[in-house]
Amino acid sequence: MKKDLISMTDLSTEDVWGLIEEARDLKKGGASRMLEGRTLALLFQKPSLRTRVSFDVGMKQLGGHTVYLSPDEVGMGARESIADVARVLSRYVDGIVARTFGHELVVELAQHASVPVINGLSDDEHPCQALTDLFTIYEKKGKLQGVKIAFVGDGNNMAASLSMGALMVGSGFTLAAPAGYQLKEPVVSVIKGLASKNGAKFEMVDDPAEAVAEADVVYTDVWTSMGQEKEAAQRRRDFAEYRVDPGLLSLAKRDAIFMHPLPAHHGEEITKEMMEHPQSVVYDQAENRLHLQKAILARLLGPHRC
Ligand code: CP
Ligand code: NVA
Repeated sequence: MKKDLISMTDLSTEDVWGLIEEARDLKKGGASRMLEGRTLALLFQKPSLRTRVSFDVGMKQLGGHTVYLSPDEVGMGARESIADVARVLSRYVDGIVARTFGHELVVELAQHASVPVINGLSDDEHPCQALTDLFTIYEKKGKLQGVKIAFVGDGNNMAASLSMGALMVGSGFTLAAPAGYQLKEPVVSVIKGLASKNGAKFEMVDDPAEAVAEADVVYTDVWTSMGQEKEAAQRRRDFAEYRVDPGLLSLAKRDAIFMHPLPAHHGEEITKEMMEHPQSVVYDQAENRLHLQKAILARLLGPHRC
């Protein structure tokens, strides 16, 4: 693997499978304190429950330590340049998980850090969640090749990372989004390249029912991502027909699973019964952040890192 995990495009198909297999072993209880004495900085510009806690607990389970740095403490790019934050942190810690607004911030951090930088969500991508989702789908379906993922909602950071990851391992990906909210360049070109290389299908449509037909996975995410709060009222109007409810899920395959990265906005992108729906795997998905990210830490910070 490369030094950093900033985008799904940093990974090869072999890297993705390697992480899934390592996560499966770690989840089975592959006891290891391989990161004994190592420290991970958690540098966050946005709030988090899953990413922060799962990296914190995962690092500690592997024998390491963490330091959490909140938005107010560091003032990335305001109190101090990104380059200096990266260079100084590299003298203290062995790896950095960064959650940023602009994607260019996490790219710049990685350029100037001598230690691995992991994107814990930026405005453009969420690779740790996408890798976790592929692991979860593999656990539930026993395969990834030929699985159809229908993403209903915004062509956002989550849709970008998950679509690229899906196409890398031969899963089909269909996005149903209203006009103006589809995936954009350069992600679309990357996805089309992966689709033709791996023989998997990629589509963007505007009809949720068309997207979920024959789907193995029905996936949604918030309509208003962190940083877009001023657009919330407009987005509620634009996405009103894109809510996932049991009726929409029933149009997918009978054994389709329902996924959401969380946090969920009940009454917006999902109706309240979706979380506890018999086909929902959202809490297993949330748990798997821990296992998959331990695999990332093992690969990037561990003794056998490449
Ligand atoms: N899914 C996810 O990244 O959750 P948090 O924003 O709580 O970290
Ligand atoms: N698209 C959401 C994902 C949260 C995990 C956001 O960026 O807020």
